[in-house]
Amino acid sequence: SERPFRIDAGDTSVECDPDQKMLDAFLRAGVWIPNSCNQGTCGTCKVRISAGTVDTPPPLDTVLSHTEQEQGFVLSCQSVPTSNLEIDSVTVDSNARHHVLRDISGTVGSIRQVADDTLTVTVMLDEPLEFTAGQYVELSIPGTGTTRPYSMANPPGQDGELEFHIRRQPGGAATDGWIFDGMTVGEPVAMTGPWGDFCFTPDDPDLGLILLAGGTGLAPLKSIATAALELDPEREIHVYHGVRFESDLYDVEHWQTLAANHPGVSYTPCLSRGQWSGRTGYVGDAVIADLPSCKSFSAYLCGPPAMVEAGVKALKRRRMSPRRIHREKYTPAI
Ligand code: FES
Repeated sequence: SERPFRIDAGDTSVECDPDQKMLDAFLRAGVWIPNSCNQGTCGTCKVRISAGTVDTPPPLDTVLSHTEQEQGFVLSCQSVPTSNLEIDSVTVDSNARHHVLRDISGTVGSIRQVADDTLTVTVMLDEPLEFTAGQYVELSIPGTGTTRPYSMANPPGQDGELEFHIRRQPGGAATDGWIFDGMTVGEPVAMTGPWGDFCFTPDDPDLGLILLAGGTGLAPLKSIATAALELDPEREIHVYHGVRFESDLYDVEHWQTLAANHPGVSYTPCLSRGQWSGRTGYVGDAVIADLPSCKSFSAYLCGPPAMVEAGVKALKRRRMSPRRIHREKYTPAI
């Protein structure tokens, strides 16, 4: 059947095309479903189907347990309807942090190599994009029908331009097949967004921030730091950037300048493999060494899964309340 299917969720109802993912349909209709990876690996987007059928790849049981699958849970980011559906009601979201998902177009504004295998790419938008600091877009890889997620490094409200930090993924369709191989200034870029619930929440303006990044996980934290300082230039913000070698570090001057101009900001680059005059070891250990208590902070962590997990552990050891720990894991796709 070619017609869109209807998905009822309590009092809310959206239309979903037979080839459209349920999550995509909800977010485009402005109905918020929590979501993070959009790749079937985090489980954040799960919904329970009470009537109807979907087409969905078998989920990893680390993401959806057997019990949950028996109860009718599916990953909405991976599932397309094959009939009209009823799902358990979704929390109707009145939260201004969440924006309607849509198609976005622009052109490449600049491409700059900033470290080993790392580029900063800017995209000039055809229309402004509303998003919350920390969120990402899915870039369409030309000619492939596939997408890859990249977080905005700029804060919201800078209408004309998005900034992305892009690490080369050997053999990667987006990086080796396109961005590091022939992307040119001025070429068109198609995206969807904004995605994700790694969102800066200015709920507790009195709390300091700890921003923990691994590699290009720095991008959304740059957006968050800028947004936080726009609200309060005095805010206490400790930025830790973990990379393997000194040649992987980038944006050093940006952060040093920020720290010089804002008394509350500290910036600690940390090498896990390389040797230099600065800090070495894992960023989580650096936090433990520097901060006897993390009680009066909230934290945002973004990077490879192992780094994020270790960072969360470190913060909990320093008595940070779990609800103040926000995390985004980068699972690189080829
Ligand atoms: Fe769907 Fe992560 S599994 S958003």
